[in-house]
Amino acid sequence: MWKEGTKNKMKISASRTALGEINKDVLIVPVFEGETPRDSEHASALAALDHVTRGAVASVFEDGEMTGKRDSSVLLHKAGPLSTKRLLLYGAGNAATLDSLSVQRLAGAAIRTLIKQRGIRSAAFLVTRKLEREAWVRAIVEGALIGQVSGELYRSNGEKRVIETLDLVGELPDPSDFEAAIRIGTAMADSVNLARELGYEPSNVMTPSELARRAEEMAAREGLEFEALGEDEMKHLGMGALLAVSRGSQEPARLVVLGYNENANEGELIALVGKGITFDSGGISIKPAEKMEEMKYDMGGGAAVIGAMQAIARLKPNVRVIGIVPASENLPSGRALKPGDVVRSLSGKTIEVVNTDAEGRLILADAITYAINGGATCVVDAATLTGACVVALGEARAALMGTDQRLIDDLVKAGEQCGERLWPMPLDDDYGEIIRSDIADVKNVGNRTAGSITAAYFLKHFAGSVPWAHLDIAGTAWTEKEKPYIAKGATGFGVRVLANFVLNRASARA
Ligand code: BES
Ligand code: MN
Ligand code: ZN
Repeated sequence: MWKEGTKNKMKISASRTALGEINKDVLIVPVFEGETPRDSEHASALAALDHVTRGAVASVFEDGEMTGKRDSSVLLHKAGPLSTKRLLLYGAGNAATLDSLSVQRLAGAAIRTLIKQRGIRSAAFLVTRKLEREAWVRAIVEGALIGQVSGELYRSNGEKRVIETLDLVGELPDPSDFEAAIRIGTAMADSVNLARELGYEPSNVMTPSELARRAEEMAAREGLEFEALGEDEMKHLGMGALLAVSRGSQEPARLVVLGYNENANEGELIALVGKGITFDSGGISIKPAEKMEEMKYDMGGGAAVIGAMQAIARLKPNVRVIGIVPASENLPSGRALKPGDVVRSLSGKTIEVVNTDAEGRLILADAITYAINGGATCVVDAATLTGACVVALGEARAALMGTDQRLIDDLVKAGEQCGERLWPMPLDDDYGEIIRSDIADVKNVGNRTAGSITAAYFLKHFAGSVPWAHLDIAGTAWTEKEKPYIAKGATGFGVRVLANFVLNRASARA
């Protein structure tokens, strides 16, 4: 039914082709603030280009059309005897504040500028001296691959423009130095795009069963163990919290379990757990109609875990990992869970459900217990859990809370490295008071205060003494508006920070 909407067809390579001999539809040249063809430090790239274009580049600078200001751009056609048909000078901003995120955004925005043009199928990206570092090359790869994908899965007409080949042209180093960066960046970005595609799918397609099917497809392709529990098995195990959420829906719940390196017997077992609500209407505590359609993205945490597991399968860290995605719809019906109901979770703890719209924490509670019962020595969950998180941190950072300082520190570091930035929030026991129940062990909502923290505190009840951390990605999992570097909609946030965290843990062990 759907077109090959978001399939990434960009093939990335590296070469040391001389500037005058690049045979692509376009050459992308990043320009940092203050750089000019006359500037001696940067002379090798801009001055050489100016030479090849017989002064066309210098005249752009002389006229003040290019100052390096972020996201400004000048596209030249047939610039002198230059062998590429077009030259894109792209403003890269301030070189002093370069980090993985700014480089990703630079590459993504340049690619998005180009796919809005007609007839560009191949590109070269000039890796200028300031960008000659493995981490930045990786960021270029990630930004380009992510920038190219959009969510128009079901648009019937209109041509699909993609850049099929991207050649990273090194100024100085041996291009084979870029190979590892290309391999890692491609694995990461493909996995981010997988998560985004799962998110873009509407909830009539992306049901819990379909989410499980896509996870199974990925697992078969990448060589991961796969299992999906159905409702009978959940009932048998006693997953009363997860089942309570799916009661109102005709679509049965699933618990997806992906295993990596399961047979390596010893050591740590990292569990990644992702909220997979394929549509959140709020249930009987129904949400207002405005923006309710965005609640198809409420499986963003689950998608991030599926994506991270794909990246892990490709990059092969030496550690055991399980990915767990509890998947359900949250709908009202004559059978639905009601405010005031009490349910018994897999852990044995009873939960008073004061608000059926606080459903994510219910399905995560059982998934976290399932992970711990399965031997997890550390649990990290990702969830579009609270509107309060969007109020607190917006789209720039996800909230981070947990019970283990080393885990928190490692996640912050993993996030900074890959540009998925996290911000720690407190989790003092005082917050736990707010979700004390008069009838059961805990209730699923507090008062109007500290909404993201009380949600996390609820989860802490189920993590117990196992080191656990929680990423609230409610603000970061999708973007309401298109950005220069990414289409609107699902962002795949969480894939890289989770995968990177696992890779770091594995190399710390080695
Ligand atoms: N999926 C929502 C959280 C959400 C809201 C994510 C907006 C992204 C944007 C979650 O299930 C939810 O409804 N949370 C409630 C909790 C409340 C009832 C305590 C919320 O945040 O309003
Ligand atoms: Mn909800
Ligand atoms: Zn939700």
